[in-house]
Amino acid sequence: MRKIQFMETVLRDGNQSQIATRMPITDMLPVLSTLDQAGYRALEVWGGATFDACLRFLNEDPWERLRLIRAQVKDTKLQMLLRGQNLLGYRHYADDVVEKFVVKSVENGIDVIRIFDALNDTRNIRTALEATKKAGAEAQAAIAYTTSDFHTLEYFVNLADEMAQMGADSICIKDMAGVLLPETAYKLVSQIKDKIDLPLEIHCHATAGVSEMTYLKAVEAGADIIDTCISSFSSGTSQPASESMAIALENLGFETGLKLEKLTVIAGHFDSVRDRFRDEKILNPKVKDIDPKALIYQVPGGMLSNLMSQLQEQGISEKYEEVLKEVPKVRADLGFPPLVTPLSQMVGTQAVMNVVTGERYKLIPQEVKDYVAGGYGKPPVEILPEIRQKIIGQIAVETGRPADKLKPEFDRLKAEISPYAKSDEDVLDYALFPKQGRDFLGRREDPFYDIPIQTVDLKIDLKFL
Ligand code: CO
Repeated sequence: MRKIQFMETVLRDGNQSQIATRMPITDMLPVLSTLDQAGYRALEVWGGATFDACLRFLNEDPWERLRLIRAQVKDTKLQMLLRGQNLLGYRHYADDVVEKFVVKSVENGIDVIRIFDALNDTRNIRTALEATKKAGAEAQAAIAYTTSDFHTLEYFVNLADEMAQMGADSICIKDMAGVLLPETAYKLVSQIKDKIDLPLEIHCHATAGVSEMTYLKAVEAGADIIDTCISSFSSGTSQPASESMAIALENLGFETGLKLEKLTVIAGHFDSVRDRFRDEKILNPKVKDIDPKALIYQVPGGMLSNLMSQLQEQGISEKYEEVLKEVPKVRADLGFPPLVTPLSQMVGTQAVMNVVTGERYKLIPQEVKDYVAGGYGKPPVEILPEIRQKIIGQIAVETGRPADKLKPEFDRLKAEISPYAKSDEDVLDYALFPKQGRDFLGRREDPFYDIPIQTVDLKIDLKFL
């Protein structure tokens, strides 16, 4: 019997996708030892938007959260998601900050770091990957899956191969938009497993209604690990349900190692957590809906709803169809970037501007200019000279790794936040989120610090990672 291992996402991706990462540690503590005994390969507990949400909304020390989890999870690996050279923030960091962050994550309890780059530019994941291995943790390199004429099976297989050559300990196919179809998954997994002798993990979102089928075909093709979420926070924008996938795979003759009686206890606990978030209206019923539009438009569901709200705010929602047609054109102009943060926002905003002004690239956000100038790394396909000229004129394109231009910055950041920081972990709070980090530390250290905890603004961290 072949063994299929499970990675449980309720504490990170399930939490992030369905309740905007608002789950406090107090909702996790009572069930951690049961999660530890359930037979998962790993629990995803950190990274993504958890760090930001801890500082910004929950007034929780993200490092302390990790240590509290580690204290009770003794046998199961703890996993996190890291956006390569961007870490968990929104800019490129110098290598010394990336290395320090990785070392501290491992020191505080992380076993597996899943590293990806929004553009699949492997130069942006190398420093984090090497630091992870050096710190003694598992470095998992993730492919940001997307669809376009350029994103062929061959492209993804070569990318996985490149990641293996860089020293990745395992590979993940990360389908943040939920657009990976069963037959494509079968072919992709078969070809990667043929060529690369590393554990392969599949991460899908159930938004478009095909993810359980995709998981089954991926497993049949040789995938080793699947990412699931306990039923309470599963399906819709989250992952397929852990219990349902385990029962179905066992029935098909696979071994999962999961203990159903433990999963039932875990679901019982999180059902009441979910019900409370429903009552508080933090859990929007829409996150449980199936929305196949991502398959039709090849645009992630989260991006479609963001576009709609942008247009509604400007009172021009009748332009929606026109903007939807413009999105793939802008994406092609910009070299077919995967539609994941921050590129999804850039492509979406540019498409809205092109439609609203009635002239393409009359208005251009600064982020789009920076991207075209090479500031985020290499676009998957080279941008045509006439498009490039329209966007940045005669400015020369940077072809080096963006972080190569950054001088070491940890000591400077440490000096800046020295009145409040007691540890390197504190400095990293400030490095990643200058405002939220400073406010969190200020509230902790200074009784007269009077910037309150943020309570609203659900839209900001609805990222599909
Ligand atoms: Co995800």
